[in-house]
Amino acid sequence: MQKRIVFSLGGSLLYKDKTLDVNYIKRFSKFVSKLSKRFAIVVVVGGGTLAREFISVARKFTKNNFLLDIIGIEATRMNAMLLSISIPNAEYIENPLTLEELSNGKIFVTAGLIPGISTDGVAALIAEKLGATFVNLTNVDGLYTADPNKFKNVEIVPKIKAKKLREFLQPSFEPGQHFIIDNFALNIIERSSIRCIIVNGRKFSEILKALTNKRFRGTIVE
Ligand code: UTP
Repeated sequence: MQKRIVFSLGGSLLYKDKTLDVNYIKRFSKFVSKLSKRFAIVVVVGGGTLAREFISVARKFTKNNFLLDIIGIEATRMNAMLLSISIPNAEYIENPLTLEELSNGKIFVTAGLIPGISTDGVAALIAEKLGATFVNLTNVDGLYTADPNKFKNVEIVPKIKAKKLREFLQPSFEPGQHFIIDNFALNIIERSSIRCIIVNGRKFSEILKALTNKRFRGTIVE
């Protein structure tokens, strides 16, 4: 059986200066297409600038978090549909729960599911269902020992227990909120001991190293 991977593609990677980053989309598409010869792949796409922009304007008119999350989910779907069109051997799946079997050489691209969680949570659920490795593609190099924007000499944590990682996270979830990973996803990872990797989604060589069990710049959650 081919090794299975669920990528949680942080929406922020698809955008540069608040507009779609066509160059990144092309590069990512080429990268996963090639990778799909060796791995069975699902990509769960985040909302990025589109979600944040719509949620922040909608918030001026409502305090209803359910509605704000629905707006976020629709943004993740727009991004996922676009990404699936850019990958020649991809299929867009609107409802991630309907993903049953992975097939060789085909990439499934999907998006948000229900209010109250993030696309990391969706990716963790799919990884649990299909027995896959969860790979969180984010816009930083991994989990840092402290906020690199506030402190000097911070380092990447190469390995961390899921329980310990929880201490870094905020307990509540707000629409449009941005974390390296969220509590819901972490719960799923912990309860089913899912192999989880956090790596910079722009550094394809590091992603490849991580997937082939080589030393890489990033974080392994165990
Ligand atoms: P994400 O927060 O998953 O997108 O979804 P993102 O841009 O990738 O975020 P980062 O970069 O990983 O932090 C955007 C918003 O859509 C709603 C939430 O409001 C979320 O903040 N959403 C998404 C849901 O309510 N349910 C889902 O299953 C997915």
